[in-house]
Amino acid sequence: MAIRLIILAAGKGTRMKSQLPKVLHPLAGTPLLGHVINTGLSLNASGITVVIGHGAELVRDTITQDVQWAMQTEQLGTAHAVMQGLEGIQDDDTVLLTYGDVPLTRASTYQRMLDVVSDERMGLLTLRMDDPTGYGRIIRADNPDTGPIVGIVEQKDATPEQLAINEGNCGVISIRGKWLLSLLKQIGNDNAQGEYYLTDLIGLAVENNVTVEAIHPEDAWETDGVNSRVQLAMLERVHQANQAQALMEGGVTLHDPSRLDIRGSLAHGTDVSIDINAVFIGSCKIGNNVTIGPNCTFINATIGDGTTVQANSVVEDSVIGENGDIGPYARLRPGCELANNVKIGNFVEAKKAVIGNGSKVNHLSYVGDAELAENVNVGAGTITCNYDGVNKHKTIIGSGAFIGSNTALVAPVTVGADATIGAGSTIAKQAPDGQLTITRAKQTTIEGWQRPTKKN
Ligand code: UD1
Ligand code: CA
Repeated sequence: MAIRLIILAAGKGTRMKSQLPKVLHPLAGTPLLGHVINTGLSLNASGITVVIGHGAELVRDTITQDVQWAMQTEQLGTAHAVMQGLEGIQDDDTVLLTYGDVPLTRASTYQRMLDVVSDERMGLLTLRMDDPTGYGRIIRADNPDTGPIVGIVEQKDATPEQLAINEGNCGVISIRGKWLLSLLKQIGNDNAQGEYYLTDLIGLAVENNVTVEAIHPEDAWETDGVNSRVQLAMLERVHQANQAQALMEGGVTLHDPSRLDIRGSLAHGTDVSIDINAVFIGSCKIGNNVTIGPNCTFINATIGDGTTVQANSVVEDSVIGENGDIGPYARLRPGCELANNVKIGNFVEAKKAVIGNGSKVNHLSYVGDAELAENVNVGAGTITCNYDGVNKHKTIIGSGAFIGSNTALVAPVTVGADATIGAGSTIAKQAPDGQLTITRAKQTTIEGWQRPTKKN
């Protein structure tokens, strides 16, 4: 009695006008098909089969989740597609059939569809629509509103009366394995499009005394498929709005919920405040009382309690400790590990920098491949010269060191604890603990020097 999913994803998606197979177009950074698979995985399905055709190789290479692949080399219709994906399906399985280009169906909706399945009953996702153009119409006996479902008629095969039916087929079916296996074989292609219609399954099931239970989505967008980039953008907004809503319900203040994008996951504490145009990519975590200024981008970033990230900062693959003060205009490139109470000011770029408690890099600096101990003060314009053109080298700065402005630290190099480096120095050798080290040409004044004057 296993739950099995078959996802149809062989279609071309002509209206996307793209080289990329439609189901690989990203929504919130994840391919459309990836969303459907993730929802399926959340149902504890014991197997997910994806039927692919157009761009099959690329689809298989791109999708990272563990699924079974089936090939449909010619797109002869939705029933034909399902037939390619039947391997391993058992009579007593509960099978959910869905599309790889409908990304936002709730798991709870799928679950309700699975729950109605028995040997005598199947599920069909339907929706009453203002404009059902293009959708298969749900045919009910006796009464078009309340009568039992007896079949589906495709738009192109429908009579004018049938076209007036406003209940549309959303394309998701749940059914016992034995019915799927036996009835699919009976579907022909004698219809307006010469295709094997999956929708014919409904009439055949009814002939075999299987009751068709209509399940409705909670929200219409759950059943929206992507056929064009316009529809893709619309669903992206729906998804982002849903995520923003969940954040606010979870204790996050959003200055404008419509100007936030999460492409991945965002774990958060309470009393977090996020200003406009924040983008979170990959897996991000922010603690309690974190404040984020406008126009910041975070990629796999972790931010500790009480930290402020000011406007226009970018944090990638890095960890910021508690009570930090970052930006504005700071860039933390991959591999930064900031302890607590660290200050990274404007126009500072850091990469693979491990920075100790209370250290400050306040202005216009590059700190790469560096280890700064506690309470280090790095003056404006300091550069770690970490690259000799071939290899990267490390700069190590001891606790309490003070690096004067406009210093070049030529790595590999070590600055001792409590050392002071005079402004404008080029430090290529170890600077000892507790002393002033300076490399600076002696300042001279030329007595009696005069500015040149213009010749006439
Ligand atoms: C289908 C339904 C229709 C429903 C509509 C929207 C049929 C016959 N019709 O129509 O009742 O209202 O979806 O949910 O099923 N696909 C394949 N191989 C094929 C054909 C299609 O993998 O040979 C895939 C497509 O990639 C797509 C999905 O099946 O993801 C639906 O195909 P599509 O051609 O869009 O079906 P519709 O004509 O919209
Ligand atoms: Ca379609």
